[in-house]
Amino acid sequence: MCGIVGYIGKKQAAPVLLEGLTKLEYRGYDSAGVAVSDACGKIEIVKAQGKLKELKKKTNDGKSLGGNCGIGHTRWATHGVPNETNAHPHCNDDGTIVAVHNGIIENYAELKAKLIRRGYDFYSQTDTEVATKLVDYYYKKYAEPLKAVSEFALKVRGTYALAVLFADRPEEIYAIRKDSPMVIGTAGGDCFLASDVPALLSYTRDVYYVENFQIAHLKDGKVDFYNLDSERIDVPVTKITWDAKAAEKNGYEHFMLKEIYEQPRVVEDTLNYLVQGGEIDFSELQLRGEALKSVRGIVIVGCGSAYHVGVAMQYVIEDLARMPVRVELASEFRYRNSVLSGEELLIVISQSGETADSIAALREAKERGLKTLAVVNVVGSTIAREADWVLYTKAGPEISVATTKAYSAQLVAGYAIAIKLASVRGTVSAEERRMLVAQLRLLPEKIREILQEPTAIQQFAAETMDRKNAFFIGRGIDYAVSMEGSLKLKEISYIHSEAYAAGELKHGAISLIEDGTLVFGVLTQEGLAEKTISNLEETKSRNAHVAVVATKGIEPPKTCDRIFYIPQTDPHFTASLSVIPLQLYSYYLSVAKGNNVDQPRNLAKSVTVE
Ligand code: M6R
Repeated sequence: MCGIVGYIGKKQAAPVLLEGLTKLEYRGYDSAGVAVSDACGKIEIVKAQGKLKELKKKTNDGKSLGGNCGIGHTRWATHGVPNETNAHPHCNDDGTIVAVHNGIIENYAELKAKLIRRGYDFYSQTDTEVATKLVDYYYKKYAEPLKAVSEFALKVRGTYALAVLFADRPEEIYAIRKDSPMVIGTAGGDCFLASDVPALLSYTRDVYYVENFQIAHLKDGKVDFYNLDSERIDVPVTKITWDAKAAEKNGYEHFMLKEIYEQPRVVEDTLNYLVQGGEIDFSELQLRGEALKSVRGIVIVGCGSAYHVGVAMQYVIEDLARMPVRVELASEFRYRNSVLSGEELLIVISQSGETADSIAALREAKERGLKTLAVVNVVGSTIAREADWVLYTKAGPEISVATTKAYSAQLVAGYAIAIKLASVRGTVSAEERRMLVAQLRLLPEKIREILQEPTAIQQFAAETMDRKNAFFIGRGIDYAVSMEGSLKLKEISYIHSEAYAAGELKHGAISLIEDGTLVFGVLTQEGLAEKTISNLEETKSRNAHVAVVATKGIEPPKTCDRIFYIPQTDPHFTASLSVIPLQLYSYYLSVAKGNNVDQPRNLAKSVTVE
């Protein structure tokens, strides 16, 4: 979702800005723009609707724009259609103040009305133009950029990462954030600013994670930080340890395929971090058994795939640790007046750690007195910083909008939490625990085994690419995986798809089954498979096209059209295996349709708006 970049230094700014924006493309966007100021402070803005190649074309890859200082933006439309006028950067009336913004100004209508009363005109439908003109108003009033930016922060409600150029202060950038990520790096006399680390990695590994309400002033190859009272503050430097190569395709046609194939390794890495000497060990999280002993229930929140991990965890934790677990969509949790005793542990799951709904749910839980554990992939993200404990999934940077490896890493993190809770509560014996951990350790090899045979899935995807509707059904953990399989398919193939608890289909949705409707059944649970098979037969009798993902040893329905087998594992952990054919299926189908696999339409990697 929207990406911002900034640069000041010895190089020509525009090519650096475009390179940074290219690294942020994965976040999802529908228009882009840059603003570059020369040494005399003249600011030139160029914008283009559509993908970055349009902006590159307009600027001859940035070479046609002179100047060593600039800001850039990729926009994912929130206020106003995705056209050139609404694209960022935005400016004041005489083009002397120019800004890019990631986030949402919630009270923009109210502020806009006030600014109109003060004589301002507006050319776009965006909240960012309002933000820019608000800064302009306070700059005219106080003639002090720090004051103008802090007054802006005091007046707006919402989220923002804002970077501003002032024409009368050439070669300086002012920036501020609230609840939208911003990182800054310096190297050899150059300063870089971005929404996310990949945009900086070709230049530096030493980055500052800007906190809420901190103002950054970039000038002369260094960055100074201030609070809202314009007092200097210290912000620590963090060393980025992951390899820049990890955010590149490495010969794969798409990031999604690369990330699917990285799953054995990320599952292994996450387990290496959580398992010591055959036991689940949370000492790195500083989460001791005693802290878990007093927990009376679990509330899991997340969005999209992270929520689906929560659904799978619910089955596993309830079965192993015998304690009540509730899973809620983060976007709903915060608005419900939930009945909580305060003795629950809230587990928030998020790849990016920046999802606005999940952040809001975490804050709501903290306000309600709950202890909080974050399962997060991005180090230093907002959720990681705000939760009481953090369990980092070791997936490395995930670029494709459709999550795969982060989902798999979250699943094993969830199993580890379940086993830990079971051990603290004494609901599994030491012997059972060891067996479970031993089974966990075998998962990477089993995922690898499934990934070795993609051809049949690829073929099936090509055969079924023209379907209009699909259903994914299963019971228990298989239902949780069905939800994920269905989301994967719809988000990148644009085929309408639903996940149903297998027993529920006959209560309404079966009326949608007609000749050729695709139905995927997930069959990994011995005791439940027979029931789901009956439900699959019911769809087959209505001429559905039935495919099954089944654990070896489970006899699928005789009438099904295609079977994809997965290796056996402990029944609690089957989601880690059954999801793999479903990911591959969606991937190959999207490729067959010629879709933009890594950046599907209308979607963003990190959803920083509510
Ligand atoms: O970064 P998060 O894990 O908090 O993101 C949550 C969802 O937006 C995310 O899982 C989304 O559903 C994915 N595109 C699914 O592939």
